[in-house]
Amino acid sequence: MDIKFVTSAGRPAGFPAADRPEVAFAGRSNVGKSSLINTLANRKKLARASGTPGRTQLINFFAVGDALYLVDLPGYGFARAPVEVRQSWMRLVRNYLENRTTLSAVVVIIDIRRDPSEADRQLIRKLHVMNVPPLVVLTKADKLPRGRMASRASSIKRGIENLVPEPPLIFSSRTGEGREELWKRINIHAGRVSPDNRT
Ligand code: GTP
Ligand code: MG
Repeated sequence: MDIKFVTSAGRPAGFPAADRPEVAFAGRSNVGKSSLINTLANRKKLARASGTPGRTQLINFFAVGDALYLVDLPGYGFARAPVEVRQSWMRLVRNYLENRTTLSAVVVIIDIRRDPSEADRQLIRKLHVMNVPPLVVLTKADKLPRGRMASRASSIKRGIENLVPEPPLIFSSRTGEGREELWKRINIHAGRVSPDNRT
């Protein structure tokens, strides 16, 4: 599969032309968004794993062939971030979510070991209002004994109310669990007729 970094944008003028379906990835800071994109792409360092604070303020666009964009949104809920940083995150992401006409779905990433935060719920409510399907992914599943996964998944499902039609998908960037299924769902939401799972 051919996935390439396209650009980082700190404001809408920097977004690439909205000329193809797009799936964005959102979740609290450090939840594993970039790792998940790397896992989807089968690449180690396509989307950087975190470490550079400046970078996390930007929206990163990746092209899958010429048919789809994957979009790494900056993480939210980093308690130690200064208020201005959090506000600028909210402005940028809100602007993106509200104006990106080609947005087909948002993958909402939650740590399987944690209950959804208020910020997670706010995001899901906002997507609901905007009629953008949320795809909930529970990541870092490798950190949990297999026997506890189902009960964590249903507890998280309760925490996000009934605004998410599809069951949350259990995922691990470390083991690749859930990768094929996530591609399948992304391709369906992006309206891609023949899922391309080759890598
Ligand atoms: P920000 O961009 O800062 O918001 O972070 P992020 O959400 O992109 O998270 P990132 O992918 O950088 O991962 C954060 C940390 O979690 C890194 O140390 C990853 O190695 C680790 N991590 C991510 N996914 C997994 C996973 O599925 N399993 C395990 N065990 N660790 C993971
Ligand atoms: Mg990241």
